[in-house]
Amino acid sequence: MCETCNKAGKGTFYVTTPIYYPSDNLHIGHAYCTTATDTLARFKRLQGYDTFFLTGLDEHGQKIERKAAEKGVSPQAYVDEICVNTKKLWEIMDISYDDFIRTTEERHTKIVQKIFEKLYQQGDIYKSEYEGWYCTPCESFWTEHQLVDGKCPDCGRPVEKAHEESYFLRLSKYAPRLIEHIKSHPEFIQPESRANEMLNNFLLPGLEDLCVSRTSFSWGIPVTFDPKHVIYVWVDALSNYITALGYLSEDDSKFRKYWPADVHIVGKEIVRFHTIIWPIILMALGLPLPKQVFGHGWLVMDGQKMSKSIGNVVDPVVLCDRYGSDAIRYFLLREMPFGADGNFTNEALLARINSDLANDLGNLVSRTVAMIEKYYGGVLPEMGERQEVDDNLIALAEALPGKVIEQAQGLWVNVEKSMNALQFSNALTEIWKLIGECNRYIDLTQPWVLGRSEEGKARLNTVLYALAECCRIVGVLIAPFMPKTPARIFAQLGVEETGLQSWDSVGRFGGIRPGTVVHKGEALFPRIDVKKEMEALAALNPKKDAPKAEKKPEAKPEDKAAQDEAEQGLIGIEDFAKVQLKVAKVTAAEAVKRSDKLLKLTVQCGGQTRTVVSGIAKHYAPEDLVGKTVVLVANLKPAKLKGIVSEGMLLAAADDEKGLLRLLTVDGDIPDGTEIG
Ligand code: MSP
Repeated sequence: MCETCNKAGKGTFYVTTPIYYPSDNLHIGHAYCTTATDTLARFKRLQGYDTFFLTGLDEHGQKIERKAAEKGVSPQAYVDEICVNTKKLWEIMDISYDDFIRTTEERHTKIVQKIFEKLYQQGDIYKSEYEGWYCTPCESFWTEHQLVDGKCPDCGRPVEKAHEESYFLRLSKYAPRLIEHIKSHPEFIQPESRANEMLNNFLLPGLEDLCVSRTSFSWGIPVTFDPKHVIYVWVDALSNYITALGYLSEDDSKFRKYWPADVHIVGKEIVRFHTIIWPIILMALGLPLPKQVFGHGWLVMDGQKMSKSIGNVVDPVVLCDRYGSDAIRYFLLREMPFGADGNFTNEALLARINSDLANDLGNLVSRTVAMIEKYYGGVLPEMGERQEVDDNLIALAEALPGKVIEQAQGLWVNVEKSMNALQFSNALTEIWKLIGECNRYIDLTQPWVLGRSEEGKARLNTVLYALAECCRIVGVLIAPFMPKTPARIFAQLGVEETGLQSWDSVGRFGGIRPGTVVHKGEALFPRIDVKKEMEALAALNPKKDAPKAEKKPEAKPEDKAAQDEAEQGLIGIEDFAKVQLKVAKVTAAEAVKRSDKLLKLTVQCGGQTRTVVSGIAKHYAPEDLVGKTVVLVANLKPAKLKGIVSEGMLLAAADDEKGLLRLLTVDGDIPDGTEIG
C-alpha cells in the first residue's frame, strides 16, 4: 500500500548500474549503461512499482591513487572534482537516480569495514601470501596461466607482479552452492550465454580463493584490525549495492524494503565480478542473492570497445547539445539489442533521428495538430462514427495495459515482455508500430481530402480525434525512454490532466476530451541536413574523422599489399567479421501493399522480434515462409522500404537472368539467434 496515495502498489523494484571509476572523460559508452538502467527505472515507476535506482562512483584503488599523483592533487580532491562533472552529465541526460553513492563516503566505508570484519571473524576471510599478477586498469588479479601473451586477458594491457601479504576470501568453499544456484536459476545471469561463460570458464574448472586486501598502496578502505592492508577495490565497490540501502547501519529500512535487487545491470566485462565474487560475499553474509545480473554488450567504434585509452570516445555532452538528450537516449536504446555489442556511427545516429524521430514521430504530431487547427480552429472535435479503418487503428492502440493483461494481445504485451527482458530496442519497435500505423492511417483516410467537403468533415472528426488520442498514448509510452518529449507532445495536444499522462490511462482509448484546445509548437525533432552535419561532426573530432581531402602519406609496404588485395576484390577476415550472420525463424509473413516484389516478414532472432522486408514475393507465398529457419544479416543498418523499416536482410541464392531465387536455410534444429560464421 502506498503511504501517500493509499492505493495498492505493485511492490518494489531495485535496479542498479555499476558504480563508475571516476573519469574526466565520460563517454557515450558509459552513458549507454546508465541510460538503459534509467529507462527501466522510469518504466517501473510509471507502472506503479516503488522503484529504487542506484548509481554512483567507485573512488578507491591503485589506479585512482596514481592518476591523482600524476595531477599533483590528493586522491580525494581528484575524485571530488570528477564527481561534480559526472553528476552534471547525468542531469543533462535526465538520469533519475534515487541515490548516488560514493565509495569514499563514511556511510559506505564504515559498513565495508564491518562486512570485512564479520567475514574474517566467521573464518571466510583468512590471512596468507599473494603471489601473482595484477592488472591495475581493471583492478583484477590473474594467475600466470590466465594471462594471454603475458598480458591482462580482459583488456590486453601489461600486468604487474604482485607479491604481498594478503587476506583471502574463501571462494572455493562457496563455489558448489553458486554453481547449483546458477544452474537452478536460469534467470540469474542474463543473457543466458553469459551464464554458460561463467560456468565453463571460471566456476567448473575450479575457483581459487580471492585475494581481498592490498598493502602496496594506501588509497582504499583500511582493514580495521590490520590497517596496513586496504580492502580490495572490488569487495569495496560491490558492497555499494547494500551499503547505499543502509545494511548494518542504524537505519536499515531501505535495505529491508528493497534487497534483494531485482537487477544489476552491468557491462559484459564485469559480469564475472557480479556473478562470482558478489554472490559469494552475499552467501557468506547470509543474504539473499540479487534476482538477476544482466550483462549488456559494448558500444564499439570501428570494432573496438569505446575507451579513453584507445582514444575512440564520443562525448555525450556534445551530442546532447546538438540533438537533445532524448534523441541520444532513443538512439542508444533503439539501435542495438541490449545484450550484444553495437557499433556507434554518426551516420546511424543521424539516420535514426531523421527517420524515426523527425519523420515518423515528429511529423505525426505536427500534422495532427496542424490539421485540427486548420479544420477545427484548434478545438478537438468529438469522435463521429467509426469505420473498419478506424477500428483497426484503435484496436492496436487499445491492446494496452488498461485491458485485462492475460487476454490482451499485441502491442502492450510485447512492450511489457520486452521491457521485462531488458530488450529496449524491441519495446521501441512495438511503440513505433503504433506510430507507423497512425501515419499509414493518415495516408489511407486522406484527411486533407475529407476537409474539402461537408460530408467529408463528418468523417474528419473521427480521423482527427483518433490521431490526437493515439499521439497522447504514444506520449505516455515513450516517457521512460525519452523523458522530455512527452511534455512537449502533451503541450501541443493541450493535455494538461496528469491522469491522461499516466500509464493506467493508455489502455482506455478515448481519454483526451473533445473541446481540448491544441497548440502547434516547434517541430519535436527538426530534420537534419546529414551531409552538413557529418562535416560539422568530423570537424569537432578531427582525430577520429581525419579530413578526407588531405593528401595521404606514402603507403607503407603492408598497406600497399592491402590496397592490391582490395583492387582484386579480396577482403580480409576482419572485413568479413564485420558482418553479423544469425539464425532467425520466420514467425509471420504478409504481402507489402502496392508492391509485387516485397514481403514483410516477422522473424525471431535470439529473443528479439524483427521486421524484415524482403524482395522475394515472386518466389515465395507468405504462408510458405512461416516456420522457416533462415539466415539473417543482423547488423545491417535499418532501411525503409515502402514505408516499412526493415531491420536486416535474409540471405538468398539468386540468378536474376533465370528468374531463380531460393532462401538460405539452416539444416537441422538450432536455436534462433545462433551466430553463423
Ligand atoms: N567501477 C567498476 C564497476 C564497479 S560496480 C560494483 C567499473 N567501472 S567503469 O567505469 O569502468 O565501467 C562502468 C560501466 O560502464 C561498466 O558496466 C562498463 O561495462 C560500462 N562501459 C564502459 N565503456 C563502455 C562501452 N564502450 N560500451 C558500453 N558500456 C561500457 O567497471
